[in-house]
Amino acid sequence: MSLFSTYQLNNKSLRNHMVMAPMTRCRTSQPGDIANDLMATYYAQRATAGLIITEATQISPQSQGYSFTPGIFTKKQIEGWKKVTSAIHDKGGVVFNQLWHVGRVSHPIFQQGKAPVGPSALPPIETQIWVADDGGTMLDCPTPRALSVEEIKVIVADFAQAAKNAVEAGFDGVEIHGGNGYLIDQFLRTNSNIRTDQYGGNKENRLRFLMEVISACVEAIGADKVGVRLAPYVTFKDMNCPEIVETILLASKKLQALNIAYLHLSEADWDDAPEIPLSFRKELRQYFTNTVIVAGRYDRQRAEKILLEGLADLVAFGRDFIANPDLPTRLKKGQKFSELDGNTLFGGNEKGYSDYPNYFE
Ligand SMILES: Cc1cc2nc3c(=O)[nH]c(=O)nc-3n(C[C@H](O)[C@H](O)[C@H](O)COP(=O)(O)O)c2cc1C
Repeated sequence: MSLFSTYQLNNKSLRNHMVMAPMTRCRTSQPGDIANDLMATYYAQRATAGLIITEATQISPQSQGYSFTPGIFTKKQIEGWKKVTSAIHDKGGVVFNQLWHVGRVSHPIFQQGKAPVGPSALPPIETQIWVADDGGTMLDCPTPRALSVEEIKVIVADFAQAAKNAVEAGFDGVEIHGGNGYLIDQFLRTNSNIRTDQYGGNKENRLRFLMEVISACVEAIGADKVGVRLAPYVTFKDMNCPEIVETILLASKKLQALNIAYLHLSEADWDDAPEIPLSFRKELRQYFTNTVIVAGRYDRQRAEKILLEGLADLVAFGRDFIANPDLPTRLKKGQKFSELDGNTLFGGNEKGYSDYPNYFE
């Protein structure tokens, strides 16, 4: 087994152990936040990854927190994504759609002038979202409004419908975004969730929303098509919770019981990459025996090491895949990497998106 050998993810044969990590790039067509030909070109260029996980995708209008991120709840959005999935499949790739609800990491601009929603009315300190105006602006996230139980049930149903829409759009599965400070993560943590009902308090209660979302998606499209991303050690977006690691370990047992396709650990946000203790990795592996994906500042050496140690099955690469569409071949041949242009990450056109040199594919 090596980074470059094939891997069986349930009934999908992946051409290698490399995953393209989910990355928001804000290049949808407007109006309507619709995936388009430019995005199809960008993703197809990267189809030599064993598995592509798309950028985070809205399940409803309320779930949006940044300009120009894609949705998958309207007919036009589903049609737009079909261009992307068929372009990837034509190149022999496999692709999952990352589904998110941003919760309190949003702004009234996206909420018809009203406050964003969250588990509790607690603002994410020092957290900003990106709005496209002349050149783009970062705005602070205000205090959210706490969701009612009825509203939570609607969001669970929205996730399940989005999962069905993703299958209709040709995706091989969905990844539920349960990390990085967005709505599901906000429910998991004591510093963003101070509810006193069945969705707050002890670990079981804080896990309830995550588990309801996953169960609904499993029922909608099948466990083999559902993965989840969690971020136990990442604390940005005001997410420092002393109980999160224990909460996620309990989640891993429950997720295994549902037999979902994979658990994806988000280990770093940019350069905030805390060291993950070996004891955590081993314990997680014990509880969650299906596929484990890891992501966060991996290079070839670290990736091969963790695969050999048996502590992960697949390794995701983020920024390296932006600048190097042919990353698997470059890594295998030991070729030099292209430099990432930090100014063209969010919004814009093909510049810094689909125009990075592709030497090998
Ligand atoms: C431009 C950019 C956008 C990102 N958008 C998302 C996203 O939509 N969903 C997500 O779960 N993570 C997102 N991430 C985090 C990446 O998936 C990945 O975990 C992170 O970049 C660390 O991996 P790396 O060191 O290989 O880049 C994003 C990262 C970057 C650089």
